[in-house]
Parts: sequence; C-alpha cells; structure tokens
Amino acid sequence: MPPIQTPSIFAPVSTPALEIRDLSYLVLGISAVIFVVVAGLAAYTIVRFRSRAGDEGREPPQVYGSTQIELAWTVVPFLIVVVLFLVTARYIYGIERRGMPPDALEVTVVGNQWWWEIRYPRLGIVTANELHVPVSDPVRPTPTFITLQSADVIHSFWVPQLAGKMDVIPNKTNRVWIDPHTPGTYVGQCAEYCGTQHAWMLLEVIVHPREEFDRWVAAQRAPAVADPGVRTGRELFLALSCINCHTVRGTPANGLFGPDLTHLMSRRTIAAGAARSTPEALKAWLNDPAEIKPGVLMPAMRLSGDELSQLTAYLLTLR
Ligand code: CUA
Repeated sequence: MPPIQTPSIFAPVSTPALEIRDLSYLVLGISAVIFVVVAGLAAYTIVRFRSRAGDEGREPPQVYGSTQIELAWTVVPFLIVVVLFLVTARYIYGIERRGMPPDALEVTVVGNQWWWEIRYPRLGIVTANELHVPVSDPVRPTPTFITLQSADVIHSFWVPQLAGKMDVIPNKTNRVWIDPHTPGTYVGQCAEYCGTQHAWMLLEVIVHPREEFDRWVAAQRAPAVADPGVRTGRELFLALSCINCHTVRGTPANGLFGPDLTHLMSRRTIAAGAARSTPEALKAWLNDPAEIKPGVLMPAMRLSGDELSQLTAYLLTLR
C-alpha cells in the first residue's frame, strides 16, 4: 500500500483545489504586504520615538483627529476587503457553476455519526469511508460529482488536496466535484464538530487509473462471498441483531443504520479509521466497539469466546 500524504491545500491534484491554492496565494500575498507595512511602521516608531535621556516629564505632541489619516486607514482597508471579497466570490462561482459532463461519475456521500456512507446509485454499490474514483485526465476529464447528505447532525466534507470544504447538513443537499489528475490516496476528515467521535470520521479518496477503477467496480458489485468454511459464523451473524443495522448483499441482512459489510475486508480500516482491518482489531471491535471508539453507536454483543471467533472468521471472508 503506497504511503498516504499528509493532506495539504498547497499540494492540490484536482481543479477546485488548484484554484483554491491560487486564491490562497493571493490572500496570503496581500496579508504579507499588510503585515510588513504595519510591523515595519510599528518597529520604526518604537525605535525612532523611544524615550531618551532628558525626556523626563515632557509630553510628546498630542494629536487630536486628522481627517486625512482617518480617511486613509478607513478607505484603504475597505478597498482591500472589497478586492478580496470580489476575487473570492468569482472563484466560488467559477467552481460551483461547472456543469456535470455526461462522463462524470455520480456519488452520494452520507455523513453519519461517525462514519461516511458512500453510494454509487448508477452502479449499485454501497460502501463506507473509502471513496474510490477514476483518475481524470485534464484532456478528457471524467470528474466525480458528489452529492452530500447527512443522516443526523452537521458534518463537513473536506479532502484538502481535491476540493474545498463543504458542510453536510441534515435535510439539505450540497454538492462538490473533484477531478483528480493523479492516482493515489488522498486523506480527508470530517471538518465540523459532530459529537464525541468527530475525530474518527476518516475519509479516504482512492484515485485509480481507469482499468483499475473498473476492476474495483466489478468486485464491489459482486454479492458477498458465501464461504462454506465459515457457515457457523454466518448463521450466528444472521441470528444476531447485527442484521438490523448492517447489510450483506445476498443474505437476509439488510439493515441500513450501519456500514454495508458486503465487502468489509476490501476496506483498509474499520470504524472509519479507528482501527486497521486486521483479524485482531476486528475481533476486538466485535467484542466491545466502545473500547476502540468510545461513544460509538454499535453495542457490544456480549458474545462468548467461541462465538466471537466464529463471527470474526465469517466477517474476514467478506472481501
Ligand atoms: Cu462528522 Cu465531525
């Protein structure tokens, strides 16, 4: 697995993020000039007009009001703010009005306490916490248009290298689009405090070359593996209340509150990044989810050691 870069708005790989980077340079540039002017004048004044021997008891000249100076320090900052506002509005409008081309991939991302549901309505795929998209060649763009919804409270979708931050609001649909130019894994995170486990709402965007993406789609569309070697575990899973919250396609489990488990083990992490997808972590998670992620909505099922092993063995086959 390739190393994951620390997300930075200064390393964009997608058009909206590139434009935001350029805008940031402008804002930082103007701010730097203001900083140098203000700090320079302050430093000059402190040195030039410092108290000297023989100054004791003497008042410096008192200035009461100067129309010219007051106009200058009102009008100049006002003009700077107007420029920043207009430029920013132009960038936002430019990014948001971009229409969806026919080749675009449509994805719906639903914020949940505390994980991301990811649906591909046209492909019939439902997964969690990993958004897989094809790379978009700038010459023949195949962008991904993302519809954002929330199942509970306000979250915020932010993958700094791909696009700007967008709130995910209950009963409101927001949209973002990305057109990643380079394959790789780009990390995002819920960027709006949404409860105890806000810090564990990891989102990974995996950008594939086209053929690799098509293979991923084919694998995700397949129903769950029915490995006869783990029949006991499978029957246990279906007998427990797991199925009220989780779906495993091809079985009676069709719950919708929790992540779809059909291809659970194809994902790099469990619990939205709180643990890696290893047999040990999965077993610990099933034993007591709150041990790994305090506040998590999944309850501990109070299973015996044997049951725990059987259930883990079954879930491990869901590749
Ligand atoms: Cu979801 Cu913070």
